[in-house]
Amino acid sequence: MSRRGKFITFEGLDGTGKSTQMRKLAAVLREAGHKVVETREPGGTATGERIRRVALDSGTSGLTPLAEMALMFASRAQHIAEVIEPGLAAGAIVLCDRFTDSTEAYQGNGRRLGSDAVRELHRVLCGNLQPDLTILMDSNPQASLNRARRRNQRVSKSSGRSHDENRFEQETRSFFGRVREGYLAIAKREPGRVVIVDARGTPAQTHQKIVEVVSGKLALAGLARRVHHAR
Ligand code: TYD
Repeated sequence: MSRRGKFITFEGLDGTGKSTQMRKLAAVLREAGHKVVETREPGGTATGERIRRVALDSGTSGLTPLAEMALMFASRAQHIAEVIEPGLAAGAIVLCDRFTDSTEAYQGNGRRLGSDAVRELHRVLCGNLQPDLTILMDSNPQASLNRARRRNQRVSKSSGRSHDENRFEQETRSFFGRVREGYLAIAKREPGRVVIVDARGTPAQTHQKIVEVVSGKLALAGLARRVHHAR
């Protein structure tokens, strides 16, 4: 039987470059010989991707904050059972673009449903599964959001799809201000798990910081060499 793997999550506001950084880290880990699973929320399973469509499409009107939170957890419960737990049990490093910290920051703080509700649901629906490490990508909220909006408009136009992923991008500045505060509060509460990475540099600089963090926090074979290499 293989040793249990590691669970690493990426968090941050829309447009901070999480997905790019996750891909880069996955490549480095694979080169170092690790088995890697890359996944995302909402989504990551066939059911989860259908939930994602409902939750993110700007055509979904009138969704209540509580229903929105329930959708995020429905996607997550399925994702843990189908992808995350089996990956960890098989000894893989599971990299996940967003997890429960997103729900605490967006629904708990952004939508003002409170952290307690999110954490309680996490216990009930997710068996209180905790990441071994969370990379919180921090950046200027307005710049990140502009980036996310441009990207999503581009994708919507070029794909000719009848749905889009713009529902959250239509939120106000104060909403995203609360989301960012929510994230910073989680990082303060759980400094052993959550590491804030300044995402305002170039993608290469940010990648270097992330490799250093992962290598420093988790004893992963073959990674320390990469840190010295990249210097
Ligand atoms: P994502 O695809 O990661 O967006 P981006 O690449 O722009 O960062 O996430 C989609 C949106 O879903 C994002 O606006 C945040 C939102 N979200 C929540 O509100 N709660 C959650 O629990 C999750 C997982 C995502």
